Amino acid sequence: MQTVTTVAAVRERVSAWRAAGRRIAFVPTMGNLHAGHSSLLSAARHRADHVVASVFVNPLQFGPNEDFTRYPRSLAEDEMLLAEANCDLLFAPGVADIYPDGDQPTRVHVRGLSETLCGQFRPGHFDGVATVVAKLFGIVGADVAVFGEKDYQQLLVIRRMTVDLALPIEIVGAPTVRAADGLALSSRNRYLSDEGRARASAIYQALRETVEAIDAGAADYRELERRGSAALTRAGMRVDYFAIRDAADLSEPGSASAELAVLTAAWIGRSRLIDNLRVHRPRPRD
Ligand code: PAJ
Repeated sequence: MQTVTTVAAVRERVSAWRAAGRRIAFVPTMGNLHAGHSSLLSAARHRADHVVASVFVNPLQFGPNEDFTRYPRSLAEDEMLLAEANCDLLFAPGVADIYPDGDQPTRVHVRGLSETLCGQFRPGHFDGVATVVAKLFGIVGADVAVFGEKDYQQLLVIRRMTVDLALPIEIVGAPTVRAADGLALSSRNRYLSDEGRARASAIYQALRETVEAIDAGAADYRELERRGSAALTRAGMRVDYFAIRDAADLSEPGSASAELAVLTAAWIGRSRLIDNLRVHRPRPRD
């Protein structure tokens, strides 16, 4: 695997593959990689001849009081994991490679989807994500990109942006990789104390219980949201939201909603963890 840091170097490498008629997959990340990221690499491998990954902690998607400077960086370990996952090219730019003019005036904003749930608690976050992902797509020029369902709202924002801007790239969602107790793997889990880590499994439990209740026919979603949120509060978390939404566009579930997403964001100490599960709505019995 080769590591490059400049836009020109990525373009040069990718255009050689293109000239040879090869299919290229792309996995964007912020580094501090774990088995969840590896699973995206393997999904990418199955869909293309060459795999490009990026490691870039994007300042544009962090709020002024968020963890940009504290976000864990571990490029040497990331390179080892990527090489093991058969990645062909790592693009690891610095901030000045991506934003050479500093605070660039162009932003990508996906209306509606970006403003609800995490967007409500992290204003501007999804504009930062959509802007950098659009830019990375323009730099890499891949045929397909893989994103985790763990960040379900992000996946929907990127799908919407890709359709609306007619970007010539296919977006693939990959399932969430979890620890044995159900906790979704995340770079931010490393901030947790042992005690916080033990409590964190309550997130998956609350999501599962909600999905099971919906499967069993419970239809008072407000009540299920209250119960889910209370379970996390009892486990010592500060809950941003625990919500049941239409899985297609995160709107409030309506009679036409075939699939639902149960999504939550909660704080354990200084770590904000997010997770979600999807469930098909049982057909009403006649
Ligand atoms: P990051 O948090 O590093 O995540 C990179 C990719 O890995 C995302 O698509 C995310 O959904 C996926 N991922 C994270 N944990 C996962 C897990 N446990 N199972 C499966 N996939 C998982 O998401 C970002 O970076 C950034 O916002 C980015 C898209 C790179 C734009 O800066």
